[in-house]
Amino acid sequence: MIPFDAGAPGSLAAAGEADDGAPADPFALLAAWLPGWDGAPLGPMTLATIGRDGYPAARTVLLSGFDGERFFFHTDARSAKAAELATNPRAAATLVWPEAGRQLVVTGDVERLTASDAAAAYSHRTRYLQVLAWANDAEMAQHSLAERRERWRAFDAAHPPGMLAPPPHWAGYALAPVRISFWLADDAGPSHRLAYERDGGRWALAALPG
Ligand SMILES: Cc1cc2nc3c(=O)[nH]c(=O)nc-3n(C[C@H](O)[C@H](O)[C@H](O)COP(=O)(O)O)c2cc1C
Repeated sequence: MIPFDAGAPGSLAAAGEADDGAPADPFALLAAWLPGWDGAPLGPMTLATIGRDGYPAARTVLLSGFDGERFFFHTDARSAKAAELATNPRAAATLVWPEAGRQLVVTGDVERLTASDAAAAYSHRTRYLQVLAWANDAEMAQHSLAERRERWRAFDAAHPPGMLAPPPHWAGYALAPVRISFWLADDAGPSHRLAYERDGGRWALAALPG
């Protein structure tokens, strides 16, 4: 679960705090919603890219980290999303905290991370996810369940814990927002959005209906 500073579920205090005291800088609000990244993945988010056929393409990925300004995620460089980002380095991500009545939508520009940055994130993945990054390709997907499990077992046995380096196709990306919207539930009134848009060197803020 992604840590957040939410107050009580559906907390009006939490909503009002962000609403009436909306900071000019959305990163101040992001720091409150996504505090304390220790290097481990923060939780799932929906990542939307621009499909090569023009249709949107969406899937869940782990939010690998947040450095105060950029959202990191990791994937297989041979994946559809990697090809889409190579063509169109733009994406949107949504995170939702239903119990707290919060949704975050971030739209922006995507850059590939260096291999050493990506390797640091790999070291913070669980053993299962480290093996998955090696043993989850198009060729593997063609085999039966029994065969996939056998290949997994053999790979796992041949690579003791602590010995795995990221595969060559392990790729990290940073999403730098140009638009950030904070959606807030309110159990005594309408839901509400604080919508920030980068405007040159500053952020424009609009209050929008939920
Ligand atoms: C909870 C959850 C977390 C996931 N995390 C990742 C991830 O961090 N990176 C990744 O490449 N795929 C992740 N996946 C798998 C993707 O949703 C997707 O199926 C895969 O990356 C292929 O996507 P693409 O063909 O659109 O590139 C995750 C799936 C789920 C359900």
